[in-house]
Amino acid sequence: MKNIAVIGVGYVGLVTGTCFADMGNRVICVDVNEDRIANLRQGILPIYEPGLEEMVRRNVNAGRLFFTTSYQDALNDPEARADMVFVAVGTPEGVDGEADLRYVRAVAETVAEIVDHPVIIVNKSTVPVGTGDWVADIVSHKQPNAVPFSVVSNPEFLREGSAIADFLNPDRIILGSLDRSAAEAIAQLYIPLRAPIMVTDLRTAEMIKYASNAFLATKISFINEIANICEALGADVKEVAVGMGYDKRIGRAFLDAGLGYGGSCFPKDVSALTHMANVQGKHPQMLEAVMQINADQRRSVMLKARELCGDLNGKTIGILGLAFKPNTDDIRDSPGIDLARMFQEQGAAVKAFDPVAMPNTARILKDVKLCADSYETVEGCDVVILATEWNEFKNINLIRVKNLMRLPIFIDGRNLYDPAMMYELGFIYRGLGRGYGKPVANGHKGQAAGATQAWGDWNATANNKGK
Ligand code: NAD
Ligand code: UGA
Repeated sequence: MKNIAVIGVGYVGLVTGTCFADMGNRVICVDVNEDRIANLRQGILPIYEPGLEEMVRRNVNAGRLFFTTSYQDALNDPEARADMVFVAVGTPEGVDGEADLRYVRAVAETVAEIVDHPVIIVNKSTVPVGTGDWVADIVSHKQPNAVPFSVVSNPEFLREGSAIADFLNPDRIILGSLDRSAAEAIAQLYIPLRAPIMVTDLRTAEMIKYASNAFLATKISFINEIANICEALGADVKEVAVGMGYDKRIGRAFLDAGLGYGGSCFPKDVSALTHMANVQGKHPQMLEAVMQINADQRRSVMLKARELCGDLNGKTIGILGLAFKPNTDDIRDSPGIDLARMFQEQGAAVKAFDPVAMPNTARILKDVKLCADSYETVEGCDVVILATEWNEFKNINLIRVKNLMRLPIFIDGRNLYDPAMMYELGFIYRGLGRGYGKPVANGHKGQAAGATQAWGDWNATANNKGK
């Protein structure tokens, strides 16, 4: 049993603290956000993450998990001095694409000023290469009395929406430090997880995190580029991805073409790695292309809508899904949110729905009609866009959807539906990279009705609907 302090109770900190407590440690989580801590003390979580609420409650009740706004209580409780301090504060994108380290700096300064005993500072936030050394410098300079400490980099690889399972079943644990015994002490903590543990130096550990996220983002942009070529040539990217994935060297994961990557990590991390390279006078051309392709995917959906429906000014657009991916309430850099803004700029009225992310959306999106469910969202719409592949959209009543819409233009930003079925139901359907082929008499694939029908025809149909 270790005494652990976790700093920052966001997606990573709260999951990390709760899982360590569940593994039998005593964990105290500290955050500067007083509301978050007050709510957590009443069992109200600041984030939506499947399974987390129950796990927090169980560990609080067992007397292993605590929440505070006081660094003093978190670090120096005489009954339970923190042996290790996990830092899990945000590292958002700065103005030039760099990682903004202001929260990491604040934590380093506060820990240095307050901790009164030897401690291992473990960095779980995603930070630029060299940050571990920088943190060590800050701590040394800010300590009122020299107290021994070590810095370990322990990047986190969990995904939102499956965070607990990812944390407890990691593919690997990466530990970077110049102090081998500190890295080994942290390794002990992870031994129950039975994952490979790699000990390396600080900078290499920090780079492993960026390289991993950049590689996954590259896979997504790669398949999106293939999707665009598929679309032009009449191939189906979904099947292409399956066919590629059988090759063990390639793998099927992260080859889902669509609106591209969003969220609080890939966008800012690819950008931060690019910035690091540029500062060193390198030319990270592939990373630049990855970001460009990702931005283009979102724009391509808006262009598809315009192509099918003409001028978007005065049209009504429905967006299904506002979280950046299913099973989270996180809307940071979410394609659905971005599209809502893009359509508003074109003069369209936007309606939207998400099963979980509505409260977060209401805080940032103005003049978007937030609806109670999918059906209210699609009612009277000229175009509906599926932006997040929530399970509940998989079994939506598509006939009802079509009957509620003014024009049956459906753009499937996550390639959730079968194009042939959508055509049969009478939609003008577009996925991304689906080729739009459907079997014709001679056995070849040809243009589907949805692909060739002109906007004018559909507009006439819609205008005649009420007659
Ligand atoms: P978050 O924004 O959800 O949470 C950060 C928390 O830190 C907030 O509650 C904030 O109030 C708190 N905080 C800020 N300054 C503080 C201070 N001085 N003292 C105490 N608390 C403070 O962030 P997140 O999504 O959990 O990400 C944290 C880090 O982990 C980032 O570097 C991110 O890149 C990395 N990461 C995130 C994920 C993910 O899925 N979200 C996965 C792996 C790694
Ligand atoms: C990602 C990584 O998967 C985690 O390993 C990492 O720890 C985390 O970033 C981080 O550093 O914060 P996360 O952003 O939670 O996790 O979610 P992912 O499942 O990776 O999805 C990211 C985005 O890519 C989503 O918008 C998703 O819709 C998109 N995506 C994912 C695709 O467009 N296609 C795919 O094939 C896979």
